Amino acid sequence: MTSTERTTALESIAAEVRSCTRCRLSTGRTHAVPGEGSPDTEVVFVGEGPGQNEDQQGRPFVGAAGGLLTELIGSIGWQRDQVFITNVVKCRPPGNRDPETDEMAACAPFLRRQLEVLDPALVVTLGRYSLGTFMPGARIGQVHGQTRAVDPTTGARDAIAFAMYHPAAAFRQLSLKETMREDMTRIPDALIGARQGRDSRATTEPDPIGRTEPAVAAEAITTVEPPAVPQTASVEPAGAPDTDLAPAFAAAPDVEPVPEPTLMPADPVEPEPIVPADSLADDLTEVLASVDMHAIPHEPPPETDQMRLF
Ligand code: URA
Repeated sequence: MTSTERTTALESIAAEVRSCTRCRLSTGRTHAVPGEGSPDTEVVFVGEGPGQNEDQQGRPFVGAAGGLLTELIGSIGWQRDQVFITNVVKCRPPGNRDPETDEMAACAPFLRRQLEVLDPALVVTLGRYSLGTFMPGARIGQVHGQTRAVDPTTGARDAIAFAMYHPAAAFRQLSLKETMREDMTRIPDALIGARQGRDSRATTEPDPIGRTEPAVAAEAITTVEPPAVPQTASVEPAGAPDTDLAPAFAAAPDVEPVPEPTLMPADPVEPEPIVPADSLADDLTEVLASVDMHAIPHEPPPETDQMRLF
């Protein structure tokens, strides 16, 4: 699939999302929030669902939580528009309550189709519902900063998931902001590991949708320097100590036919899951208006070759 074809396909999905009436969330929305970002990216961030700001603007992660997410993405030398950002549900749950099971099921085909089009190497989960979609049964306190192979039935046919806390949780529990910063620094290595897995499989398996090039399309976005993926780097991503990529992918079932993804909220005992992420984001939008989180001194990590990925 070419970049133009991906753009067209994503726009088509977005148009369907905007006119969707598949579940009750459509009745209370101002705007649906299909997602946004580069059609050529290798990295997709998946949150929970739109909050008030997102509902008003029709764009994902534009409130306080979005500000932190954008900052975190910038902290590793990437830009928000180089990745794709979307949510498990595309319409705001009323009062920022958690999305319900039938709402997630109704919305799941949109995320699955977006992932089929984007074919990301890396899916970054933000929050418990995203975690439950890509790492069913996992507990965020145990898996944050780590990777797992993604079930191709999610639509991401050859990807690994990278678990992160929801940015809004960092406003509730301040120590999580530093945890998120540390986890974020592992993403470039996770992407390198995901690429290596895809490259090795590309030499042995036919591409079912006809994309012939390996997963390096993101270089087309904004590359100002050669993609400096160190060929001699350790095969084991630093942030993925317990991911056995090769066997996991080798055992992956065929991508066709694609059933609906299983949506399994993670264990609610975990500290991050009990945070009502979007309500936090919205409530805190006002509260935090006086707290400029960007004013908090943050020394970005030194840029290395491994971080210049796009
Ligand atoms: N929280 C989410 O999970 N998604 C958004 O788009 C905004 C806040």
